[in-house]
Amino acid sequence: MKNKKIVILNKIYKKPISCLTAYSAPIAKILDGKVDFILIGDSVGTVLYGMKNTQEVTLDMMKMHGLAVTKNVSKSKTIIDLPFKTYENKDQALKNVKILLKYTNADFVKLEIDSNKVEIIKHLTDRNINVIAHIGITPQKYKDFSKIKYIGKKENEVKKITKLAQMVESAGAKIILMECISENLAKKITLHSSIPTIGIGASKYCDGQVLVFDDIINLNGNKYVPKFVKKYVDFTKLSSNAVKKFDKEVKSKKFPNKKRAYQ
Ligand code: KIV
Repeated sequence: MKNKKIVILNKIYKKPISCLTAYSAPIAKILDGKVDFILIGDSVGTVLYGMKNTQEVTLDMMKMHGLAVTKNVSKSKTIIDLPFKTYENKDQALKNVKILLKYTNADFVKLEIDSNKVEIIKHLTDRNINVIAHIGITPQKYKDFSKIKYIGKKENEVKKITKLAQMVESAGAKIILMECISENLAKKITLHSSIPTIGIGASKYCDGQVLVFDDIINLNGNKYVPKFVKKYVDFTKLSSNAVKKFDKEVKSKKFPNKKRAYQ
């Protein structure tokens, strides 16, 4: 597949775009400048708060986590999610996006989109708000994530999502984020859209890739992770070993030693 020119807000990206999630200041500091985009995702609900799904995430949670991240990012672009039920219609969406962007100063807002919500994109982009349209699997629809299956095996799914991609582009979305779709579908959408695509579980045929940071460092230590996740480091193992060592040193009175004490 020929590389398409990736342009976002007048900046040309010569290589595929990288994006990871962050919900806190320390993680934002680690990621800043090392990935192109940092997403304050509503996955904060499941990943950080241990919620079963993202439906309980509130605008206040997004405001607080959003600010913790954006205050500590100066090089990468930031994206913030609008949480469940905060964009049921155009007016509610605009009101809540304004609150979120005023508080956090994020560069982009991301909305999970089906055909009923496309008009919201136009309403926001007409007012100079940078919108990312999240299509394919849209997790806010699911109470139980184990029910999630990828899209794009059946011809009718391919037609539906391809059409949706065209609609969000025409409505003014700056980027299409595609979740859990087949290689073929990802390839088709990426080839036919003039805006960049970023995929999660959407194959190499996207203009960029996003993953949840906690997943790539195995912070949650979950036994089950989706097939598309790659663990780059096992933080659960590393930190468990550190904790065991600390406990042992406390019990054996090896810690704190003289060096760590005020004389
Ligand atoms: O909330 C999130 O982390 C996301 C990613 C899964 C793309 O939307």
